[in-house]
Amino acid sequence: VGIDISPAMLDVALDREVEGDLVLGDMGHGMPFRAGTFDGCISISALQWLCNADKKSHSPPKRLFTFFTTLYSSLARGSRAVFQLYPENSEQLELITTQAMKAGFSGGMVVDYPNSSKAKKLVPDSSWGFYFDTFCHSWVPLIFFD
Ligand SMILES: C[S@@+](CC[C@H](N)C(=O)[O-])C[C@H]1O[C@@H](n2cnc3c(N)ncnc32)[C@H](O)[C@@H]1O
Repeated sequence: VGIDISPAMLDVALDREVEGDLVLGDMGHGMPFRAGTFDGCISISALQWLCNADKKSHSPPKRLFTFFTTLYSSLARGSRAVFQLYPENSEQLELITTQAMKAGFSGGMVVDYPNSSKAKKLVPDSSWGFYFDTFCHSWVPLIFFD
C-alpha cells in the first residue's frame, strides 16, 4: 500500500502499474490503517515535509507525532520502518527523532557518505536515512538510500 498527498504523484504510480493499493492522504493526519497491518514501511524523500507548517493550523511537532503514533500502531510487532529524507538542518532531525521516540519507536540514524564534509555539515542536499526497530530496540546494519 502506498500513500501520498498528491493525486498527480499517485497517477504516476498508476501509470507505472505498481503493485498494491494507493491511498490519497496527508501523513500529518495519521496513517489510516488498522493496528498491526504491516510488516514494514519505507518512505523516500517525504518525511521532511512534515517539518513545514504549510497552513496556519499546522503544527509540525503535532503532525509528526500523529504520523509516528499511527504508523507505529499500524505496524506488526517486530516491524521496521525506514525513512530516507532531506532535512534542512539538525533541528529538523532532532524534532523528527524526538517525536518518533515519543511515539514508541527506537533506532538510529545513518548518513550516506559519512566521510563527506558536505554531509557532516547537514547541507540541504545531504541525504540522511534512519531506521527504527519496534521490537529489538537495537541498532541494525547501515541502510543507505540515494
Ligand atoms: C520527493 S517526492 C518522493 C516521492 C516518492 N517517494 C519517490 O521516491 O518517488 C516527495 C513526496 O512526498 C509527498 N508528500 C509531501 N507531503 C506529504 C504529506 N503531508 N503526506 C503525504 N505525502 C506527502 C509529495 O506529494 C511527494 O510525492
